[in-house]
Amino acid sequence: MKVSPAEQHERLGSTQERARELAQKGAPEGTLVVAREQTGGKGRLGRAWASPTGGLYLSLVLRPDEGMLKRASISLVAALAASEALDATARVSTSLKWPNDIVLHGKKLGGVLADLVREGKDSYLILGVGLNVNTARDAFPAEVRTLATSLAIEKSATFSTDEVLEHFVSHFEGHYESVRKGSGALLLSRAADRMTTLGSRVRVKVAGRTIEGKASGLNATGALVVELDDKKREILYAGDVEELRSL
Ligand code: BTN
Repeated sequence: MKVSPAEQHERLGSTQERARELAQKGAPEGTLVVAREQTGGKGRLGRAWASPTGGLYLSLVLRPDEGMLKRASISLVAALAASEALDATARVSTSLKWPNDIVLHGKKLGGVLADLVREGKDSYLILGVGLNVNTARDAFPAEVRTLATSLAIEKSATFSTDEVLEHFVSHFEGHYESVRKGSGALLLSRAADRMTTLGSRVRVKVAGRTIEGKASGLNATGALVVELDDKKREILYAGDVEELRSL
């Protein structure tokens, strides 16, 4: 897969929606839509994604086959690529929080949203990545101000969003190819190494219930393995994780 920049917008409702329109019209795998600001950014679990100017917002059209979808979490390897891109641009050490948040100094620096669309025989994955590069603290809405951060806030400097994008694209192209070839295991272990969630006691909200236990690892596809207090194990494919404390 080669990423091919199709559209670059100063301001857009949502790159996710735009990439989906392009995919519906047959846009090939690798089609990239970028925006500098979004007025209707979408987050995971139906939430809004605050997208003020200063951030990097992108969506990619992917057309993985069924086998590839089963092999490894594409959104997790995208989060790994984003984390690596931010580290390379700003010389920081970002971490990951399961399922695919990018975190710096305990606050959220970016997120990944994967929308799998099936339309008749056609199916595609719209992969969205939002990264807070130069976002000013007061540009975040009040309700996320204590939870979110940006590279600029943490490093008191401004960074090139184009450089972050270039690093992301080159890392993600490589990772996607590895998953396609069936050699994604190494990537998952690299993602696991960056994941603050593992080894922590967690409370996870998933499909209307809450479970608590120790996040002990990732399975071969990137799902979270949680050991419950009665020693039973749960394998989680989605959910909202609260890290209670390191064990
Ligand atoms: C999350 O909730 O953590 C995921 C956020 C993903 C946001 C990105 S920004 C680019 C793309 N366009 C959207 O509307 N959402 C995704």
